[in-house]
Amino acid sequence: MSATELRLVLLGCPGAGKGTQAKVLCERYGITHLSTGDCFRAEGAAGTALGKKVADYMKRGVLVPDAVVNEVVASKLDALKGGWLLDGFPRTLDQAQELDRYLRANGQKLDLVLALAMKPEEIVRRLTSRRSCSCGEVYNLLSRPPRAEGVCDKCAKPLLQREDDTEATVRKRLMVYEDLTSPLVAYYRSGGVFTEVDGSLPVSDVTKGLCAAVDALAGSPSKS
Ligand code: AP5
Repeated sequence: MSATELRLVLLGCPGAGKGTQAKVLCERYGITHLSTGDCFRAEGAAGTALGKKVADYMKRGVLVPDAVVNEVVASKLDALKGGWLLDGFPRTLDQAQELDRYLRANGQKLDLVLALAMKPEEIVRRLTSRRSCSCGEVYNLLSRPPRAEGVCDKCAKPLLQREDDTEATVRKRLMVYEDLTSPLVAYYRSGGVFTEVDGSLPVSDVTKGLCAAVDALAGSPSKS
């Protein structure tokens, strides 16, 4: 299989490191990163009708309705050529089944579901310490602080804290994950194309674990 045709799902609770790892994997394998959270935040920043529709759900730390998310993802996937990695989708059983239907209808299949395992206690500290730049760089005051306080290393713009990264909203997001998203681990594990990596390890070790699983499937990009 060519690495650039890979179809991957990255599962994990809020703050497990999906976005951090997705960027590295997509760069390494030459596939497209599709994050539903990033997509909704971009729509919000642009003030579109979709952005307005999803803003309140995101602010409260609850899920955007399945019908809205499924439609957005299907239209994004329709427009893509080559492989992709889904980050933050699917998040409910309905979304997973809808993705299955989409893939079947297009004669495609998932190659691998990568899950990042994390203990919820560590997440609150991790997410309340996250700072992001509008250029896409993501920092962490504990594990990846910017060189100058409050300023992006890459573009020198001021760093922001996500509206849903307050302690109360992080706890709400974790409850929603436990109720609605964690059942997907069993769903995909039983499907047989599933691997789990400890998301509490240092970033580079998590990357190594994920890449080992993908390379076993696709062959190392340096070899292909
Ligand atoms: P979304 O943006 O997808 O948020 P999330 O799933 O809660 O995940 P996060 O982005 O918070 O964390 P992450 O796992 O990407 O971690 P990151 O790499 O940034 O969704 C937001 C909202 O949109 C949802 O609540 C919902 O309302 C809506 N939504 C989105 N998709 C939806 C869907 N499918 N259905 C319905 N609604 C949907 O890392 C976190 C921090 O930790 C960073 O500071 C990073 O630097 C640091 N870090 C990363 N890895 C490590 C490590 N190994 N060690 C130490 N620090 C680390």
